[in-house]
Amino acid sequence: MDRLRIVGGNPLFGSVEISGAKNAALPILFASILSKQKSIIKNVPLLADINTTLKVLDSLGLKTLFKLDENTMEIDGSSLNAHEAPYELVSTMRASVLVLGPLLARKGIAKVSLPGGCAIGARPVDIHLMALEKLGATFVIESGYIEGKAPNGLRGAKINFPFPSVGATENTLMACVLAKGKSEIHNVAREPEIVDLAIALRSMGAKISGEGTSVIYVEGVESLHAMNHRVAPDRIEAATFLCAGLMTKGKVTVNGISAEFMTSALDFLTQAGAKISDTPTSITAEYVKELSPLIITTEPFPGFPTDMQAQFMALLTQANGNSIISETIFENRFMHVAELIRLGSKIKIKGNEAIITGPVQLTGAKVMATDLRASACLIIAGLAAKGETFISRVYHLDRGYEQIEMKLTKLGAKIFREKEK
Ligand code: EPZ
Repeated sequence: MDRLRIVGGNPLFGSVEISGAKNAALPILFASILSKQKSIIKNVPLLADINTTLKVLDSLGLKTLFKLDENTMEIDGSSLNAHEAPYELVSTMRASVLVLGPLLARKGIAKVSLPGGCAIGARPVDIHLMALEKLGATFVIESGYIEGKAPNGLRGAKINFPFPSVGATENTLMACVLAKGKSEIHNVAREPEIVDLAIALRSMGAKISGEGTSVIYVEGVESLHAMNHRVAPDRIEAATFLCAGLMTKGKVTVNGISAEFMTSALDFLTQAGAKISDTPTSITAEYVKELSPLIITTEPFPGFPTDMQAQFMALLTQANGNSIISETIFENRFMHVAELIRLGSKIKIKGNEAIITGPVQLTGAKVMATDLRASACLIIAGLAAKGETFISRVYHLDRGYEQIEMKLTKLGAKIFREKEK
């Protein structure tokens, strides 16, 4: 297994290009199942989760081709000849459950392994199934598989979500576009990745409005032609680099993204004392004074994103005073705390609250990545720690960050990938 070795202490200066958003690319690639034609998707990030997605699409019979220019993915939906997403693939990437909506819409049948939990929580799919049942699907769950059927096709419906689940919104949206009649989905997720999926589906001829608000309206169509779409930039990757710049008392610009995607995170960085400036296609965060503590609660978009929680926690170990982070989206998303404590931070957990006392001088140590965003948090901490930090299990990191060592090295970081000794 690989590990990362980081020699801390170098301030980061410069600019870095932001890749396509993993959490937009995944549903958008699965949406290609909805068309019998060849879809073209640009700005797809080169990530382990994208490879897993391609394996799932291949297992369904779709022909996929990745071209390095513009990170373009070609997916030919004409050869769809199966309807099962196997356990081996779904257990490595729970987002494979996003084949449910498209397969039920296109074929009227789907068999998907129950995703199971992951490090950050139980991650049930009850809202996905509730919504798809409202559209006319029936489900049987046995031997760890969800078997869904819609022999007479899907019918539009009015659906109310108990919680604005991102994945459930995506599965439901991808089912509604080919359902007979109109659908209204209330209390849906409003994340930029949902908006990007809606734009991709509209490029196929789908009739959707309201994306980005709490109510999405869909008028089902008979069929969808090929998609032609460029994936939106990754706001979580961008926030990760801005935090890394501030953590090292430097100045980092992220290119290829606009501040509109990141209002909440940028407001908090400003409140902490960072100097934030932006253009229509870039954002700069500059360290100008000692950081002030923050009180953050993670919320569905447009609130503070749970996917930025770990990165901000690393940063707040340097703030002068007590910060509080409350995690309200996932039940177990503080596993990076124990690792940050190994680096010398002072953090106490009380229920779903973490109290971070700073500033502390972090010192390098051996630490272990536990999930994707925790990996990024440990990199940020290692960049500021005195001495060397070794991060094991970086396969977590490779799921969601494209060429992160190269991008950080370009900014002046001393970060090296090596074989676990
Ligand atoms: C998506 O996961 C993202 N993953 C996550 O990013 C992100 O943290 C999450 O949205 C929240 O923003 C992808 O887009 C691939 P949810 P998802 O359904 O869709 C509960 C990363 O680091 N819930 O909004 O699984 C669930 O247990 C990953 O990139 C139900 O109870 O998130 C959780 O507590 C991590 N029943 C909460 O809702 C359901 O049917 C949010 O889940 C569905 C969800």
